[in-house]
Amino acid sequence: MRRKLVAGNWKMNHSIASAVAFVEKVAPSLTHEQLICVPSTLLAPVSAAAKGTLLKVGAQNMHFEDSGAFTGEVSADMILEAGATYCILGHSERRQYFGETDETVNLKLKKAHAKGIFPIVCCGEDLKQRELGITMEWVKNQIEKAFAGIDAEEAKKTIVAYEPIWAIGTGKTASAADAEEVCAHIRAVLKSLYDAETAEAICIQYGGSVKAGNIAELMAMENIDGALVGGASLKSDDFLALCKAAEGGF
Ligand code: PGA
Repeated sequence: MRRKLVAGNWKMNHSIASAVAFVEKVAPSLTHEQLICVPSTLLAPVSAAAKGTLLKVGAQNMHFEDSGAFTGEVSADMILEAGATYCILGHSERRQYFGETDETVNLKLKKAHAKGIFPIVCCGEDLKQRELGITMEWVKNQIEKAFAGIDAEEAKKTIVAYEPIWAIGTGKTASAADAEEVCAHIRAVLKSLYDAETAEAICIQYGGSVKAGNIAELMAMENIDGALVGGASLKSDDFLALCKAAEGGF
């Protein structure tokens, strides 16, 4: 059975002090591995605080080159050196505000695997695309482009987060049935790219206004294996409630 992975996406929030206090509160209460993805300046202190616990730490973005003249960017080696082991790639906010494309997501996915970082690849449609009825086609295209040149063993270590853009930070969650429909479609696309065994092994998360009140219903869906959570991952009590609800599904 696939795990139910709750991944907090803190975005541009928290200080070193508040982040370390969060880890000290959350980490001892977990019964399964869960994850928080933090701003670059928090990677080292949060990883140190979470060392040896079930709370894993990830970055929210990385560059696809090893080093060089890329002002403001962080490399895979830098993330690893800081003690983090996961990285979100292609979040819709990166695509919208920072020029991330399917091509750069693909280059980053290749680099993450080359370096041994567990990637979370985001995909999802905006409201216009949903209204036009092109969600399935749009997401298929994003997945095919992200996974180009990725072999089956690497694919199995990749987490996919389906995040409809209209549901992020808006309080509008996709219904569990709608989220399941797209997550099942993503698994079918992965099966066509690889094989049934590989597609079955891949963790597919849903993201977009997930909170304690709706996570259980989402996690009960066959093809939803976890959640990528923004707002409701910032406070330790809220995050623990999410983890507990997700772990209840084991
Ligand atoms: P939200 O954000 O939970 O605040 O909607 C999710 C995300 O952007 O990953």
